[in-house]
Amino acid sequence: AMSATRYTRDEVAKHNTAESNWIIIDDKVYDVTKFARFHPGGKAFVDASAGSDATKNFYAFHRQDVLKSMASKYLIGTLVDAPSAKKASVTLKPGELSKVPYAESGAFQGLPSSFYDESHHRFRADLRKFFDERVVPDAAANDAAGKPPPHELWKEMGKRGMLAMRIQNGPWLEDLVQNCGVVLPGGITPKQFDCFHELIAHEEFCRLGVPGYCDGLGAGFVIGIPPVLQFGNPELARKVGREVLLGEKRIALAISGPEAGSDVAGLTCVAKKTPCGKFYVVNGVKKWITNGHFADYFVTAVRTGGPGVGGVSLLLVERSEGLETKPIKTSYSPSAGTAYVTYDDVKVPAENLLGEENGGVKCIMH
Ligand SMILES: Cc1cc2nc3c(=O)[nH]c(=O)nc-3n(C[C@H](O)[C@H](O)[C@H](O)COP(=O)(O)OP(=O)(O)OC[C@H]3O[C@@H](n4cnc5c(N)ncnc54)[C@H](O)[C@@H]3O)c2cc1C
Ligand code: HEM
Repeated sequence: AMSATRYTRDEVAKHNTAESNWIIIDDKVYDVTKFARFHPGGKAFVDASAGSDATKNFYAFHRQDVLKSMASKYLIGTLVDAPSAKKASVTLKPGELSKVPYAESGAFQGLPSSFYDESHHRFRADLRKFFDERVVPDAAANDAAGKPPPHELWKEMGKRGMLAMRIQNGPWLEDLVQNCGVVLPGGITPKQFDCFHELIAHEEFCRLGVPGYCDGLGAGFVIGIPPVLQFGNPELARKVGREVLLGEKRIALAISGPEAGSDVAGLTCVAKKTPCGKFYVVNGVKKWITNGHFADYFVTAVRTGGPGVGGVSLLLVERSEGLETKPIKTSYSPSAGTAYVTYDDVKVPAENLLGEENGGVKCIMH
């Protein structure tokens, strides 16, 4: 309501002392009298700007987000006068690309390219708009609060094919479009989708600039689903592939443990076949599992044979009795859902084996 009040430049100019200090930034009026004492850059600079249009000086020393985060409390109104001819900042419309040199990759600022065609431009514009409107407003707050991205957002992205755009092309993409009602970003066809569309999809995620939340929105998925699609039996690959690519269920890749990080071949999490041969029973722990805290599926590296590389298998383990996850503190936001996973006699159908028994490392290295 305060910002609806209109002032003339002359009115602002009257508040030109430390006792009553108004300044203008981007045609908005701030009463910074009380703020001056708390200004991180020192009281003197703020006092010296009293009664003036400080737009140019402000942008010489601050990022634009300082205005939103810190100055909004002191906003008292806007200027009556016509907007100043040259604004120091530009607000982009949702989906609009930046014209600031090097702020976008060259092909998207008019440079010639042999890799990007018109479909890539449509594709990026569509993703950018969705991110600007739906993801950006959610990202910073959830990252700061340490909350994972909402499941609803996953599902929405799944339905728009945005999850599938972050892994390579394959028969699953045709299936999503033909049988699951998915329309790919920018209206591209599964045949058109190439590694440059995939690159763009990753870039648009990274632009969020909040690494914990960004990983929370699929770092586990990006490494977790490919082994299922590549090495799962056709029925499993189709069922789980659909669930995960549509965002209905979430998946994580669980290879590392407290005892085996770089030394994957040394892992000790065990899976024993039941005498009837229909199940594996998994016992052990996994550590640092991104998205694990909210995942429904865990592609788990287990020891099914002797020591070393030749005794490791990959199993798709569903969250079920005996499987528990708890969050691990990391140097980025808990939004990522990084987890410690314990397997205590977890029963897994033998059909959930990915690739061949004791051929797990081959799948991991694929
Ligand atoms: C934030 C985060 C998320 C992760 N997400 C996942 C995930 O989703 N799924 C998953 O399975 N894992 C995940 N990891 C685990 C990650 O894969 C391991 O951290 C990584 O494999 C390294 O293992 P380590 O941490 O046990 O370190 P170590 O293997 O113990 O290495 C410690 C140090 O020793 C060095 N070193 C190790 N071996 C050698 C050698 N032979 N010669 C010379 N130097 C060596 C390393 O370079 C390193 O500096 C995640 C880790 C982090 C930090
Ligand atoms: C409402 C108005 C203002 C707010 C909210 C504000 C906020 C801040 C903040 C948060 C910083 C720390 C650095 C950063 O995070 O970017 C800072 C530094 C600074 N500010 Fe301001 N400021 C305001 C107005 C001004 C004005 C009018 C001037 C006048 C020139 C000014 C000059 C400076 C300077 C010189 C620094 C130090 C920069 C450095 O360390 O390199 N500020 N300000």
